[in-house]
Amino acid sequence: MPPTTSALVTGGTSGLGLAVAERLMASGVVPVLLGRSTERGEVALKSLGGTAVFTRGDVTSEAEVTAALDTAQRHGTLRAVVNCAGEPHAARVLGRSGPHSLEDFAQVVTNNLIGTFNVVRLAAARMAGNEPARGERGVLVNTASLAAYEGQAGQAAYAASKGGIVSMTLPLARELAGSLIRVVTVAPGFFTTPAAAALPAPARTELDRDLVHPRRWGDPAEFAALVAHVLDNPMINGGTLRVDGAVRMSSGLRHRST
Ligand SMILES: NC(=O)c1ccc[n+]([C@@H]2O[C@H](COP(=O)([O-])OP(=O)(O)OC[C@H]3O[C@@H](n4cnc5c(N)ncnc54)[C@H](O)[C@@H]3O)[C@@H](O)[C@H]2O)c1
Repeated sequence: MPPTTSALVTGGTSGLGLAVAERLMASGVVPVLLGRSTERGEVALKSLGGTAVFTRGDVTSEAEVTAALDTAQRHGTLRAVVNCAGEPHAARVLGRSGPHSLEDFAQVVTNNLIGTFNVVRLAAARMAGNEPARGERGVLVNTASLAAYEGQAGQAAYAASKGGIVSMTLPLARELAGSLIRVVTVAPGFFTTPAAAALPAPARTELDRDLVHPRRWGDPAEFAALVAHVLDNPMINGGTLRVDGAVRMSSGLRHRST
């Protein structure tokens, strides 16, 4: 029997991360879900069943990510990390109540970009100790957004946080090549998740206009299918793959939410 393989999925208790966890579990990998809410973790484990494990933590915390990696390594050889933790954010640079809050900007970048880097750096250190399998020690998959390329009005902070994830992908892949670790980013279009459901109706209607083909929002399982392929295909490295049904986001100027 081959040794057990584990994968850390940040933000794995809902939306895209939960779909990735489900897909990994179906392929025999033990998914370790890192999330901030124990309650949501318990619900996710109930829905997944099987071998899935939950570990409470915040991706911006060195101690909590370290503990999550310990948990993942107790459940198998850690060969994959899929970073799905992230938060949406919308605020105008010149809003009705004044200039964009600097604290908010820093918070979004800290959560989405620095949190992702924190997990990458700590996970890479663990993967570097793995015995190579099929010519590699591990794969790190990060989640950006179309906002990294065509951020809308009101998305300066969010776009900066996701653009940073896209930009660091190649240097990370180049650097970690010596450790036989791949780094790939996925940029999703519009997917039906709890975060998307929380968008105000006018914002959703506005986004619907940008749909091309298929003219619907994506199913998280379709995002997870791409992640599974990335994990399986050693030639995919150092770049960002869009999974968006040809959507190119418009300016967002027709809808003013803030
Ligand atoms: N759904 C979409 O259409 C869409 C589009 C583009 C990008 N994305 C990105 O995909 C990722 C997943 O989004 P989703 O739609 O599944 O949202 P979601 O809200 O369902 O899932 C995100 C999860 O990440 C968790 N999280 C956020 N910050 C965290 C932190 N600091 N530490 C630990 N966990 C944290 C949240 O609590 C949540 O459980 C996000 O990075 C999001 O920006 C989603």
